[in-house]
Amino acid sequence: MSGTASPRLIANWKANLAPGEEVELARQIALRGSARQLAPGSLLIAPSAIGLVAVASLLRREHAELKIGVVAQDCSSDDPGARTGEIPASHLIGVADAVILGHSERRARGEDGRAIGAKVARCIDAGIVPIVCLGDLDARATDVERCDAVVDQWRGVLAGAAALQREEAAVSTSGIIIAYEPVWAIGSGRPARPETVAAVARALRSEAELTSAPLLYGGSVDGKSAAGYVGGSGAERVDGLLIGGASLEVESLFQIAAAVGVSR
Ligand code: PGA
Repeated sequence: MSGTASPRLIANWKANLAPGEEVELARQIALRGSARQLAPGSLLIAPSAIGLVAVASLLRREHAELKIGVVAQDCSSDDPGARTGEIPASHLIGVADAVILGHSERRARGEDGRAIGAKVARCIDAGIVPIVCLGDLDARATDVERCDAVVDQWRGVLAGAAALQREEAAVSTSGIIIAYEPVWAIGSGRPARPETVAAVARALRSEAELTSAPLLYGGSVDGKSAAGYVGGSGAERVDGLLIGGASLEVESLFQIAAAVGVSR
């Protein structure tokens, strides 16, 4: 995804829907996408782990022309083996194109930079794109403080990958995508200011491994706010959006798609 590519939207369905509902929503989105000329490759959907295979097979079997990507919401920090309940990154090959890592809703359950970095390493080995979420915690912080917080988080992730001998060069050539998701903006109805997102993008792209990494914004995006984030140039470029609540309804998702110019 380069700066000139069309914006990319990732629908993060979290644990909101049962697998049957996820398949039905994916079907409705694909049908609307065909009718509204959704740009091929501009949308990725992240269903729950249990809905992943069914959604992926529906989209590939019946709507391949839209090239809707499929994203896992997490993966294991370990290799395959005797690890009950884990989903190794290598088991996602052929199912998911990318994996969301380090979402704040997982960090809140104890996941730290070391674990996220280990997951990045597993994704690199599996050839699956890591989408690493970074986000500051305090709604009253200054932009400078936010930049420092997310750069610190990034360095923690990098250290976690380095602990498994995946050095900076491997990370920067993995196709890694960064999602800036200020925790106070997620699900709060209070999205970050576009100037804040641009400042954070610039700060992260001053890190050697992220100079050319695509950067997404996520946090209470809707059809009204979406266009304000996407675009820009140089280190402040924002390449797309990670969408939670507004991705659970066909209508609100397509309001965003139209606002950023990837559908009619
Ligand atoms: P939201 O979620 O759009 O509901 O704020 C974004 C996210 O957590 O990815």
